[in-house]
Parts: sequence; C-alpha cells; structure tokens
Amino acid sequence: MPDYPREFERMPALREELTPEQMLRIIFDYTAKIANERNLHNVLVLMANMGREMILADRCTVWLVDYKRGELFTTVAHGVSEIRVPLNSGLVGHSIALGQPLLIEDAYQDPRHNAENDRKAGYRTKSVITVPFAGNDGSIIGAYQAVNKMTKEGVFTQRDLENLSLAASYAGKSLESVMLHEEIVATQKEIIFRMGEIGESRSKETGNHVKRVAEYSRILALGLGLPQEEAEKIRVASPMHDIGKVAIPDAVLKKPGKLTDEEYEIMKTHTTIGYNLLRGSNRELLRTAAHIAHEHHEKWDGTGYPRGLKGEEIHLYGRITAVADVFDALGSDRVYKKAWELERIINLFREERGRHFDPKLVDVFMEQLPRMLEARDRYKDELQE
Ligand SMILES: [Fe+2]
Ligand SMILES: [Fe+2]
Repeated sequence: MPDYPREFERMPALREELTPEQMLRIIFDYTAKIANERNLHNVLVLMANMGREMILADRCTVWLVDYKRGELFTTVAHGVSEIRVPLNSGLVGHSIALGQPLLIEDAYQDPRHNAENDRKAGYRTKSVITVPFAGNDGSIIGAYQAVNKMTKEGVFTQRDLENLSLAASYAGKSLESVMLHEEIVATQKEIIFRMGEIGESRSKETGNHVKRVAEYSRILALGLGLPQEEAEKIRVASPMHDIGKVAIPDAVLKKPGKLTDEEYEIMKTHTTIGYNLLRGSNRELLRTAAHIAHEHHEKWDGTGYPRGLKGEEIHLYGRITAVADVFDALGSDRVYKKAWELERIINLFREERGRHFDPKLVDVFMEQLPRMLEARDRYKDELQE
C-alpha cells in the first residue's frame, strides 16, 4: 500500500444517513435544476453533487465514455479537474465494461483499483461505489463513481447503490440530450467553418483568411459592446461571407488582371448566391451567416452592392464583417496585389469612415487595433515560396 503524505489526509465530519424526506428534497431540487441546464459541464457538476448528497459520499464523479478515443473522461470530480483515463482502467472502467455496478469496501484490496489517480490527486480512496448508466438506445454512456462513505460505518450499502441508480436514471436522460445539443452546435460550427474555407479556397485566398476574419469580427463585436454570446455567433458565422464564390466561374475568380464591367457584375453575385444558399435554413447560425454573406459588400454611404443599402439599413453583422474582411484583404498578398503597409491601411479606414464603413465601427477598429494585430500575428499565413 502506498504511503500518503500526512498533509493530504482529511478527517471529514461523520454524517447520519438521510431521512426519506431529505432524500426526496435532494432528488426534487436537483432534477429540476438539471432539466433546465443546457451546458454539459454544469449538468455533470449538478449530477455529481446530487449523487454525493444522496449517498453521503466524500467525492462523486460522473464519467462519460468517449468510445472514439477509447477513454473515460470527466469535466468534474470533487476536488479534481478534468481527467481522462483509458476506457477499461480502474474500478469505474471495469464497471462500465461489465455493465454492472460495483460496491467495494476497500479499494486497496481490489486489484482493479487504479492507485495512480489517488497518488496524483493526493487522496486516499477507501470505499467505492460505481453505477454505469445507459443512454436512450441502451448503450452505456457513462457511470457514477462515488468514493468514501462519510458515515461511521464507512462503507456504501445496497441502498446507496439503489439510490445512485435512481439518480443516474433521472439525470441520464437530461445528460444525453445536453450532449446531443452540444454535438449539434459543434457540428454546425464545423460545417460553417468548412464551407467558409471552400468559398475562400475557390478564390485562392490565403490559408488563414477565414480564421482571421472570424477573430477580427469577434473583436469588433466585443469592442462595440455586444454580449459575449453574440460576438461568438458573429465569429462563427463570419467565415461564410464569401461562400457564394463557389458558384463564380474560375475565369472571373482567378483572373489576375482587372475585371471587365461584365466580369465585375458576375463577381458581385457571390453575395446573393451566398444568401440564397443559406437563408432557407432554420438554424440561427446559418441565418446569421446568410445576412453576412448578403451584406458584407454594402457600404455605409449606399454605394455598395448588391442592394445599395445605406447606414443602419445594412445588417450590423454585415457592417462588422465588412471591416474585418477589408482589413484582412488589404493586409494580405493576393493574386492581383501585394499586402499594404499598416499605415496605409489605417489611412484608408480613416478616409472611408462614414463612406464605406460605419463610422462607429471605424472608431472601434482604431481602439481595438492592438488586439486585431495580435490576432493577425496569431493566424499568420505560413510563408510560401
Ligand atoms: Fe465577398
Ligand atoms: Fe473574404
């Protein structure tokens, strides 16, 4: 048995088993909170707290299975931050592999116990209880693991096992729907980003253009005082501004010299094409992206395209992306031009304040310039020969 440094030992206060009323109160309180929660981390914290209080454990962890990586992970463990372990390791891994709960009096008498985690956390595990739980399709999505019973007896009972199973079945459904929700949002973001890249690669934009435009847009949105979530929405949607370019012929898109009037008219249609591609969606992110695609070439004074909108008729997100896009375009090498010096770019924004660009946004741009430049550095294009 490993030797534990004394300072890590704890002497937790002993507790009495809960009355049925106390137990019900905990279940009611927590299931209501969990049902209203959309954030995975918060659900895991609530579930862990619920389990801990129900069975008087010192620590309780909710583990989730990551089948793709062959790992178990948790974003919360009482007193411990995120941990990832191999799928079959430790007591909880065995419990999941068997699909069976475990009730163990002394972990150190059990060869399946992974003492390494204790050592890393400076903690001494004694009694352990694990309860795997299944998702809607019956496959196991995770497990409860509670450690060290806080009563005089110091061991978990069959009743604890039943109560923890109850907690798992109450909370498991909410947990799964939250995971699904996060997955969907992540997928949407990924698709939007990939689509943006496709639009840009068609026109031979430099590699990190969409990443930089995304960052600049977020910085500008925050600088304007928009809330975090909205700035995040703009960050995610702005890379799609040129998605309509997928439908512009190469002869126009990749032409090195100046476009003829006719070619320029074709080029302009990338705004309406992008809008039409995206506007049919019910998804908020895609609808946001639709407005941006449509209006990122409108100008404050009404001389932009495709509709010649003026001032605040132009969607705020379109106005933001316009600044971000032009800032990046001027600062990068393109087939038809070299990158501009910063001073020249700043002068252009000054001149175009209230002409091409929303004056308020140009002010924000000037204020946020250090952050913009920092983002530009972070997403620099790799040097190409
Ligand atoms: Fe564009
Ligand atoms: Fe662009």
